[in-house]
Amino acid sequence: MSLVHSEENNNNGKVCEFAFYKHLGNKLPVVNTLDDLIRELRELFDSDKINVEYLNYLMKSYKSRPADWKKYAKFDRCRYTRNLVDRGNGKYNLMLLCWGEGHGSGIHDHADSHCFMKMLQGSLEEVKYAWPKCEGEELQEIARTKLELNDTCYINNSIGLHRVENSSNIDTAISLHLYCPPYDQCLVFNKNTAKTTVSTVTFHSMYGKRLKDNDKILAQPEDN
Ligand SMILES: [Fe+2]
Repeated sequence: MSLVHSEENNNNGKVCEFAFYKHLGNKLPVVNTLDDLIRELRELFDSDKINVEYLNYLMKSYKSRPADWKKYAKFDRCRYTRNLVDRGNGKYNLMLLCWGEGHGSGIHDHADSHCFMKMLQGSLEEVKYAWPKCEGEELQEIARTKLELNDTCYINNSIGLHRVENSSNIDTAISLHLYCPPYDQCLVFNKNTAKTTVSTVTFHSMYGKRLKDNDKILAQPEDN
């Protein structure tokens, strides 16, 4: 399986949603519900070549409806949580991340995975950083984006590093993430020194069922 871009795009994290249009024979799928989105994603990943713009289009087409996803939305008082929605035949993980007030991730990479993200509730701030040239130097911020309801974004290691934060002290936030291929470890960076630590990731819940601490399985990155 490989991810490919439409010819009109480059790999800079900004995608033109309709650059893939000709690949579909001018027929666009209907994505009204989260189940529609899951179905279309599974169908897309039946192919060996995944068009990045089309995947982004699917994520963007779905308009958040809390009734669709509330069974997956499980919060923790102390930190953001990762809640598995679909394993995508082992080719990708689709999950809800639930961010309490003030919760944020560390600055992290994404292994060899592609990360697609969509806002389902509230807002988040994404801060991107350039890869450090050497250990000991402060990480350089290259972009800062406020993500509002239904916004999408995309990152992989060729674009840089990022951290995500719910800066609100009043509102929670929920985002939908697709990681392909799935990964269970990533690097977390110290902002001042670029020193890295390996972070292993776990799920807070799977398919709407909360996991006990002892049962937590690998599959959740970007922690510190
Ligand atoms: Fe991330």
